[in-house]
Amino acid sequence: MKKTILTYGTFDLFHIGHLNILRNLKALGDILIVGVSTDEFNLQKGKKTAIPFHERIEIIKSIKYVDIAIPESTWDQKKSDIFEYSVSTFAIGDDWAGKFDHLKEYCQVIYLPRTEGISTTQLKNKLKTSNHPSLIKR
Ligand code: CTP
Repeated sequence: MKKTILTYGTFDLFHIGHLNILRNLKALGDILIVGVSTDEFNLQKGKKTAIPFHERIEIIKSIKYVDIAIPESTWDQKKSDIFEYSVSTFAIGDDWAGKFDHLKEYCQVIYLPRTEGISTTQLKNKLKTSNHPSLIKR
């Protein structure tokens, strides 16, 4: 039987940490499903995205490690997604360590190490600092 992996995330300003985790997630099984947080759900979490939902989900769908991308619009959909897609493993970066242990009742739960030194927040802060050397002055 094929092993299905499920994860969720915002994936704003797609970066190498996102690519690394998607590769590592796919390596855990056969089918990788990614729930991409909608703009409305992000606002509920206090996050304002730079890239709109429909573009973020298009990018995620086009990554070769991703088999299915679905919207994530509530905290509570995880359980129903696990059943709907016959998920074997729920996995996410270890910034969430312990936060989804309640799902262990329904499937395996794994926290993967994050890529160090990069995050969307860090990129946003870099872009805010107009004199950052990585920005080309014209
Ligand atoms: N992730 C990762 N390594 C990073 C950044 C993110 O493995 N350096 C993982 C997260 O742990 C999560 C997924 O990528 O499983 C999506 O994370 P997301 O919150 O969208 O990205 P961040 O860069 O962490 O965004 P933010 O700074 O807004 O929290």
